[in-house]
Amino acid sequence: MLVKNQKQAAKAIELEEKHGAHNYHPLPVVLSKGEGVYVWDVEGKRYYDFLSAYSAVNQGHCHPRIIGSLKDQAEKLTLTSRAFYNDQLGEYEKYVTDFFGFDKVLPMNTGAEAVETAIKLCRKYAYEKKNIPEEKAQIIVCENNFHGRTTTIISFSNDKTAKKNFGPYTPGFIKIPYNDADALEKAIKENDHIAGFLVEPIQGEAGVFVPSEGYLKKALDICKENDVLFIADEVQTGIARTGRLLATCGNCDCADKNCAGTPEVKPDILILGKALSGGVYPVSAVFANDDIMEVIKPGQHGSTFGGNPLASAVAMEALRVVKDENLAENAQKMGDLFRKEMNKLVEESALVTMVRGKGLLNAIVINEAEDSDMAWNICLKLRDNGLLAKPTHGNIIRFAPPLVITEDQLMDCVKIIKDTIISMES
Ligand SMILES: Cc1ncc(COP(=O)(O)O)c(C=O)c1O
Repeated sequence: MLVKNQKQAAKAIELEEKHGAHNYHPLPVVLSKGEGVYVWDVEGKRYYDFLSAYSAVNQGHCHPRIIGSLKDQAEKLTLTSRAFYNDQLGEYEKYVTDFFGFDKVLPMNTGAEAVETAIKLCRKYAYEKKNIPEEKAQIIVCENNFHGRTTTIISFSNDKTAKKNFGPYTPGFIKIPYNDADALEKAIKENDHIAGFLVEPIQGEAGVFVPSEGYLKKALDICKENDVLFIADEVQTGIARTGRLLATCGNCDCADKNCAGTPEVKPDILILGKALSGGVYPVSAVFANDDIMEVIKPGQHGSTFGGNPLASAVAMEALRVVKDENLAENAQKMGDLFRKEMNKLVEESALVTMVRGKGLLNAIVINEAEDSDMAWNICLKLRDNGLLAKPTHGNIIRFAPPLVITEDQLMDCVKIIKDTIISMES
């Protein structure tokens, strides 16, 4: 049995290598089942999932309620296109706009598509409501951003690997340092025709960089003073990941961590994806109030699958689960505990220099050069010890388990991480 399954794993890897484009470098483990915080490989070995499909599986793998809504809806109606109305989309749009406190939503599928949508919306608003001359609109973005992989989005990336030989690039973007409100103000003053500022509340892919307290609020105020749209990309940080429903409402006084109604930093345009469907189905969304969203008219933007009934039903249930199970609160509590324990590891181990993050979006920095393979080797050893994680940039390992993790499970994982790292010290 074991030999048969080992062969099955080798075969699965071989098939991907041979027939799939090599656009990823996966950790060698072949998964075939998931439930809650756990995934199992084809040999039946169980692992804690500390990546959660890049924060898409916040509600845990195969959440029975979300899968239930998927099955129910799949048996009735899956796709109509937007050529016709369907009985789920309106209900979803009402639910999700009430949930996040915006007038309107524009439904898409992937995170990158939603970012593209936000860029188009921002540009169109600039031309039609702010009278910016045609073709002149500029959007300010941050260094080391990650917003996806389309041609326009990589045009304003400074990740050489993501960008090289994919030109010519889309113009219209100005890059400033992250976490620098003065740089934002200067860029707005020194450049004409600024339409928007696109920012991640925490830079996830770059290595979980949490900006200084007050940065987002300051940036929002600068945008407001200058009539520049503040666009928050919460594809990774949203849906309770950072201990609040949205990371942009991380500093508000509201006691309800599951509330996104009155955040201190309310963006003009909010972008969500990933865990909006609990990792079950690609669902993304762009939110704005009427004065902005109404610039989009029939035929000007869309997607065959965006807003389909299956996606609508699944996303509604995925959000209900976040509320009913208090996932934001759990993410905050478990995140505080995780960082407390990892800080002990920083004291104990010369291999780890720092832990940073918010809620259950965290990373540790390995005391090695960025191009060293130590972080990768640690992830291989973590895998052997029953926990799956991946380096994000060279010497940084991101830890982002499903938000349903319990304290006992988290402490079990802390032990695996500590033992693994201490065992790797030379
Ligand atoms: C902040 C952010 N924006 C956009 C994306 C792109 O999402 P997708 O991979 O669904 O296109 C990601 C993906 O990691 C992300 O982290």
